[in-house]
Amino acid sequence: MSRLIFLCLLLCSCGGEKDTGRHPDLLLLTVATKETEGFQRFQRSAQVFNYTVKVLGLGDRWCGGNQTQAAGGGQKVRLLKMALQQFTERDDLIILFTESYDVIFASGPAEILKKFKQAKSQVVFSAETLIYPDRRLDSKYPPVQEGKRYLGSGGFIGYLSGIRKLVDEWDGSDHESDQLFYTKIFLDPAKKEKFNISIDHRCRIFQNLYGALDEVVLKFESGKVRLRNMVYDTLPVVIHGNGPTKVQLNYLGNYIPDSWTFEMGCTVCEENRRSLAGLVEDSFPSLLISIFLRQLTPFVSQLFQWLQNLHYPKKRIQLFIHNRELYHQSLVENFVKEYGSTYARTKVVGAREKVGTAAARNMGMDMCRQDSDCEYYFSLDAEISLNNLDTLKILMEQNKSIIAPMVSHPGKMWSNFWSALGVDGFYARSEDYVDIVQWQRIGVWNVPYVSGVYLVKGSTLRSELNRRDLYHSSKMDPDMAFCYNVRKEGVFMFLTNREEFGNILSLDNYQTNHLHNDLWQIFSNPKDWEDKYIHENYTMILHGRLLETPCPDVYWFPIFTEAACDELIEEMEHFGQWSSGGNMDSRLQGGYENIPTIDIHMNQIGYEREWQKFLQEYIVPITQTVYPGYYTKAQFELAFVVRYKPDEQPSLMPHHDASTFTLNIALNSVGTDYEGGGCNFLRYNCSITAPRKGWALLHPGRLTHYHEGLPTTKGIRYIAVSFLDP
Ligand SMILES: *[C@@H]1O[C@H](CO)[C@@H](O)[C@H](O)[C@H]1NC(C)=O
Ligand SMILES: *[C@@H]1O[C@H](CO)[C@@H](O)[C@H](O)[C@H]1NC(C)=O
Ligand SMILES: *[C@@H]1O[C@H](CO)[C@@H](O)[C@H](O)[C@H]1NC(C)=O
Ligand SMILES: *[C@@H]1O[C@H](CO)[C@@H](O)[C@H](O)[C@H]1NC(C)=O
Ligand SMILES: *[C@@H]1O[C@H](CO)[C@@H](O)[C@H](O)[C@H]1NC(C)=O
Ligand SMILES: *[C@@H]1O[C@H](CO)[C@@H](O)[C@H](O)[C@H]1NC(C)=O
Repeated sequence: MSRLIFLCLLLCSCGGEKDTGRHPDLLLLTVATKETEGFQRFQRSAQVFNYTVKVLGLGDRWCGGNQTQAAGGGQKVRLLKMALQQFTERDDLIILFTESYDVIFASGPAEILKKFKQAKSQVVFSAETLIYPDRRLDSKYPPVQEGKRYLGSGGFIGYLSGIRKLVDEWDGSDHESDQLFYTKIFLDPAKKEKFNISIDHRCRIFQNLYGALDEVVLKFESGKVRLRNMVYDTLPVVIHGNGPTKVQLNYLGNYIPDSWTFEMGCTVCEENRRSLAGLVEDSFPSLLISIFLRQLTPFVSQLFQWLQNLHYPKKRIQLFIHNRELYHQSLVENFVKEYGSTYARTKVVGAREKVGTAAARNMGMDMCRQDSDCEYYFSLDAEISLNNLDTLKILMEQNKSIIAPMVSHPGKMWSNFWSALGVDGFYARSEDYVDIVQWQRIGVWNVPYVSGVYLVKGSTLRSELNRRDLYHSSKMDPDMAFCYNVRKEGVFMFLTNREEFGNILSLDNYQTNHLHNDLWQIFSNPKDWEDKYIHENYTMILHGRLLETPCPDVYWFPIFTEAACDELIEEMEHFGQWSSGGNMDSRLQGGYENIPTIDIHMNQIGYEREWQKFLQEYIVPITQTVYPGYYTKAQFELAFVVRYKPDEQPSLMPHHDASTFTLNIALNSVGTDYEGGGCNFLRYNCSITAPRKGWALLHPGRLTHYHEGLPTTKGIRYIAVSFLDP
């Protein structure tokens, strides 16, 4: 035997405070009839500290009252009495009895034993702030010098002999109150003395949270997390979320026992995971995705694109789409027509069917609930813009009953979860909310409310959540009703911010008077606007790559996506009021155009502000790279889309632009859409004859870059031109 082990044995047998291995002197007893998530959390925290646990009642029918109504609990006393009668353990064994669904441990057996022994009693009960269940007993309670007066039956500790004698007194029925039973013994002076009972007035061992939330704070210290009772300056070991404090216990359980620390971050996020790596397509979990289009929403095309590109076999996905807006109907129908058959099943409830949100949410959820093969239900509202193609896999691998990916409004604090509940059941903010939204704390968080997007296990829908109508509850909106009902069933809702998933769209100012209304979203939803319209390699330019110089001082780079080009052309054609190409032009201040083209100005389609914003956000950074020292305000005299057509206006004669510099974006493809075309800079005898769709030419205007538009010989060519000045 090595010296180290010998030393340890010595220490442990002397009752040293070090917890190593199981503690022979302490047995933890609890009652649970179902292995709820709360129970699993309890088990885990007991395991962390090596408690020896015995669970009574598993699989029994619970008849000691129900969760919303805390009275009852006689079943617990009966089970304890029965169990102790059969015990053959030594009488000096110490028994710790606690609840399980709403209890976590903050420390181990050695600390509890030490504190218990200091209490110099046979049995020590937890203390309560509020008297329950019989207020009339108040006057019978002995006064205390410091601390809480009332007995709580949710946690007690004592010698086996003492507790056995105590519970031998029980002859009540299962639905009677255990708390009242113990209270009456405690308040009977003869019995109190006989059983040698005391109360943990200052919460040295037990912290009941009901009525005491203001007393406690999380204490982070050198990699450890404890709960501190500030009123009594104690560090309780058994934390009990009794009464209506379950949500707060869930919050504390995100940290205790050391589940998340400043030093280590999340220490439990890799536990209990289900790996999907290496699965063949056919063995991916079967899944139902519900998409809810409840109002006019921008970027719905992007949502369908995300769906199409998801890293998940479509054969394993069923789709349910609820659309309440006629405006979106054709987009939905086109999607289903084009891609519906690649999915396992597709069901659409359209705007004309007038199904409300709660009913539709129930309908989608029920489709999964009733299909025993449906392993997961994924609910997605269209205003949640997801861009992570692994979202589903990431959520499934976390292996929770309910889990939501965190999404928020870019640059703002609004998100899709609440971290706390106010007394009225509405929104409240915990101290970690901002850190979670801003990824300062990363992990998987047990929260009281999620919305917009979440994944639910089918098995949970068919057991704890088998109620058909989760989206109704009195006057609550469907999302609040859902979370309320889920909480009521003791099912945990988790939120993960371990990855970036996407963001929440702003639905304000979505005007639908244009053909492609997303083009106008550059102010309201700049991030999604960029994703949809700015070329994926744009940022490479800013790092000096992909920036070509086909002619002296002419820069050529990718700027627009296919969607931007196509929608801008279609928008112009939809508007249709092309200029005549003559010199007289009433749209101009002087009414006269030297070098007329057949075009439509941005201001004619109400796109001036948006275009200016685009120039500022995406062109100015480039001018600063290519023309160092020159600071443009991105103001423009003119910005327009030009149409070149052989039988209309095929080309443009040599000219100087009335600009400091000019931006010229090719909106369609040579070879496919037209033939010919291009631009010739005469001073340099340099032509660009193969314009690339979505690429821009940037060149100085007035003085140096005398140029001409080369003839388009077939088809139609479109370019977007801006004269920037200064
Ligand atoms: C629990 O026991 C294991 C060995 O069985 C030991 O490695 C671990 O440190 C113990 N945990 C605590 C908190 O004492
Ligand atoms: C639980 O208690 C509440 C309040 O008394 C009662 O309305 C409800 O019916 C009970 N539920 C069950 C399942 O016993
Ligand atoms: C329990 O018994 C011990 C030893 O007899 C005594 O000192 C102590 O005061 C008793 N405590 C209570 C709460 O009766
Ligand atoms: C997923 O979680 C369930 C419930 O907690 C558990 O029984 C199962 O073992 C977990 N799966 C894996 C692969 O760990
Ligand atoms: C962006 O650049 C990558 C790598 O150079 C290239 O493979 C890809 O096709 C480019 N994307 C587009 C849309 O041109
Ligand atoms: C312009 O370049 C072409 C070849 O690229 C050449 O044939 C032509 O002579 C040049 N013109 C002038 C004016 O230099």
